[in-house]
Amino acid sequence: MVAEIIDGKAISEQIRAELVSEVKRLTEKGFRPGLAVVLVGENPASQVYVGKKEQSCEELGLYSECYRLTDKTPEEELLTLIDTLNKKEEIDGILVQLPLPKHINEEKVLLRIDPDKDVDGFHPVNVGRMCIGNPRFLPCTPSGVQELLVRTGHNPDGKHVVVLGRSNIVGKPVANILLQKAKGANATVTICHSATKNIAEITKQADVLVAAIGKPKFVTADMVKPGAVVIDVGVNRIEDKSTKSGTRLVGDVDFEAVKNVASAITPVPGGVGPMTIAMLMKNTVKSAQIRAGELKI
Ligand code: GUN
Repeated sequence: MVAEIIDGKAISEQIRAELVSEVKRLTEKGFRPGLAVVLVGENPASQVYVGKKEQSCEELGLYSECYRLTDKTPEEELLTLIDTLNKKEEIDGILVQLPLPKHINEEKVLLRIDPDKDVDGFHPVNVGRMCIGNPRFLPCTPSGVQELLVRTGHNPDGKHVVVLGRSNIVGKPVANILLQKAKGANATVTICHSATKNIAEITKQADVLVAAIGKPKFVTADMVKPGAVVIDVGVNRIEDKSTKSGTRLVGDVDFEAVKNVASAITPVPGGVGPMTIAMLMKNTVKSAQIRAGELKI
């Protein structure tokens, strides 16, 4: 049996189509959703992500501002820019692309963003709200994983979800979101990480396996229970001489082998990746709805 291939691109397009009319309505009411994206330095992957975020704003009709700062930008200058954006009426969401250059303190920067404009969901206030089950903005990639599961009929309710990885951007929040007593969640969650012993014994118990460790093809077929749903959050660039660029994107899962064991699986690219931007757009629209007084959170 070959697994259902979960088409994240199609599902993200569906979400974005749903947002277009909402953006139009809010704009006509005088509350056009606005997003500011800040990129510091020239990290090639970050440049691609930021370009996609700008393009998505344009396609959906959001107002957007993009700041591309050099990697020598002093921390104080970035903090001052955030202060300005915090005060700007037309900006509903502020996103500072990570990672930041080493001389800039990431925690300090994330703390400076007004939690009401933190559409990335990384501010400790929003992390806390997520943990206590009263979320405002959920981090985009983790909520994209949840949305994929729900929209493909693989509701995690009552299932055993095993998360590989404990990063603040994916592992911890995805585990947290899926364990909440809430619709589209309510799972039993196990988190595995670099110090976990006998990982395969744990992953083999997963009804839903979420891989977010940043190791190409780490999850092999013998680590997956037959019929499991496998969500691959990994984005790894590996050498491949057969391609024009000499490299190729692969996930954390050995897709070709695991697709013969799993009942459903996300590809890389075209799985979780496109969902991240769709959820960012959704968070920005939500922020504008709050500004318009339509949502009380
Ligand atoms: N870098 C990798 N993923 C993300 C994300 O979701 N948001 C931001 N701001 N930076 C990232």
